Amino acid sequence: MIFAGVLKGKVAIVTGARMGIGEAIAVGLAQAGADLMLISRRISEDDEVVKSCKAEGVKVEVMQVDVSNREQVDAMVAQTIEKLGKVDILFNNAGVSKPGMLWNITDDQWDMVVDINLKGTFNCIAAVAKPMMEQKSGAIINVTSSAGLLGTIGQVNYTAAKGGVLALTKSCAKELAPYQITVNNIAPMAETDMTRKIMTDPKIAPTYLARIPMKRFCKPDEIVPCIVFLASDGARYITGQTICIDGGMVMPS
Ligand SMILES: NC(=O)c1ccc[n+]([C@@H]2O[C@H](COP(=O)([O-])OP(=O)(O)OC[C@H]3O[C@@H](n4cnc5c(N)ncnc54)[C@H](OP(=O)(O)O)[C@@H]3O)[C@@H](O)[C@H]2O)c1
Repeated sequence: MIFAGVLKGKVAIVTGARMGIGEAIAVGLAQAGADLMLISRRISEDDEVVKSCKAEGVKVEVMQVDVSNREQVDAMVAQTIEKLGKVDILFNNAGVSKPGMLWNITDDQWDMVVDINLKGTFNCIAAVAKPMMEQKSGAIINVTSSAGLLGTIGQVNYTAAKGGVLALTKSCAKELAPYQITVNNIAPMAETDMTRKIMTDPKIAPTYLARIPMKRFCKPDEIVPCIVFLASDGARYITGQTICIDGGMVMPS
C-alpha cells in the first residue's frame, strides 16, 4: 500500500461499503490508517469487508443505512461522532442502476435511482457538513459516472442522477470551501456486480473496450490510491474537481 498510515487519526464514512468499489475503498482507507464507519442497506459484521478492515488494526463501526432516507443518514453521522469522535472523510459511493430505454422507465425506476444516487449523495453531504464546518476541515468524495458526464443509451434515470451529482459537487465545493472542506468527484470504470455484464458479455464487452484507450477494464483495487490521496491532507487545495479513473475513456475539458 503506497499510502500506508497517511490517514492515521482520521475518521472516514464509506457508503455502499458492502461490495464493489465501496468494499475496495474501505479496505484501502483502513490500510491507510483511518477508523471507519461502514454502511449499506444490508451490511453486517459477518461481511468480508468488515473482517478485512478490522484486520488492519483500525476501529470499524457498521450500520445498516439506506442513504435515500435522511433520518437514517443523520442518525448514522451522529453515531459516527459518538463512537469514533468525529468525521473527516466521506466516500459518498452508494449507488444503483435500473437500465431501460426512456420510454419504458417507470415512476418507481426513476424515483429509486434518483433517490439513491442523487438524493442519497446530498443527504450524506448535508449530514457531515455541519460537523466538518465546526472543525474547519473535511474531505468529501462523491461518485459520478461517464454516463453523467457524456450521456448514454438505456439508463436516463441513472444518467440524470449522476449528472446531478456532478453539479451538486461543484455547488457544495463552493459553499464549503471557506471552511477548508474539499468536495470532489470520481468517475470510475471497474468490474463489479453493477458492471459485470457489460464487462464480461462477449456481445457487449468489445463495444465498451473499444471506447477505452488503455484497452482493459480494471478491478476496484486500482481506484484506491486516488481516493486515499483525495482524502489526505496532500489534496487539501483540490476541490470541485472530477477525476476519471477509467483508462482514458472520458477526458473532460
Ligand atoms: N462499477 C463501475 O464501473 C462504475 C462506473 C461508474 C460509476 N459507478 C458508481 O460507483 C458506485 C459504486 O458502484 P459499484 O460498481 O461498486 O456497485 P455495486 O457493486 O453494485 O455496489 C453498490 C453498493 O452500494 C450499496 N447500496 C445500494 N443502494 C444503497 C442505499 N440505498 N443505501 C446504502 N447503500 C446502498 C450496496 O449495498 P446494499 O445492497 O447492502 O445496500 C453496495 O454495497 C455507484 O455509485 C456507481 O453508480 C460505478
